[in-house]
Amino acid sequence: MKAEEIGLEEVKVKSIVDQLNELLANYHIHYQKLRGCHWNVKGKSFFTLHVKFEELYTNAVESIDELAERILTLGKSPLSTYKEYIATSRIQEINTIGMEDIALVNAVLEDFATLIEIEREIMESTSEYGDDGTNDMINRFMQFKEKNTWMLRAFCGKK
Ligand SMILES: [Fe+2]
Repeated sequence: MKAEEIGLEEVKVKSIVDQLNELLANYHIHYQKLRGCHWNVKGKSFFTLHVKFEELYTNAVESIDELAERILTLGKSPLSTYKEYIATSRIQEINTIGMEDIALVNAVLEDFATLIEIEREIMESTSEYGDDGTNDMINRFMQFKEKNTWMLRAFCGKK
């Protein structure tokens, strides 16, 4: 499919898709980190955080699929190998084995901040280029992480 068929200019769509692929790569590294947090959390918060991390990785995997399918809707191909994700992602992998529960939550909060930063960059482009569909989707992703940033910070007793 060509971008023109949904009323968007090809050259503008290309730059939006590059940004969406960057977000996709970061989301994959973040997703796998959440799985590690879910598996390796220990201590008194186990039951709370084990469930919370599952909620977060379930949301992440749904966002990943929606993001990849938006790229396809725009007539392009989503990155689909871990090699490309690792090469492209700003978010770095960590080993969650043996990490304290609060350190795991802090690692997730750091990822959220990076993802939100990328999403704000994307929304600058999508509003400038008139791609309201992508803008709406990214805005939803961002609001979920903004709300969960509040909750995770509250869990840690942060101001
Ligand atoms: Fe599980």
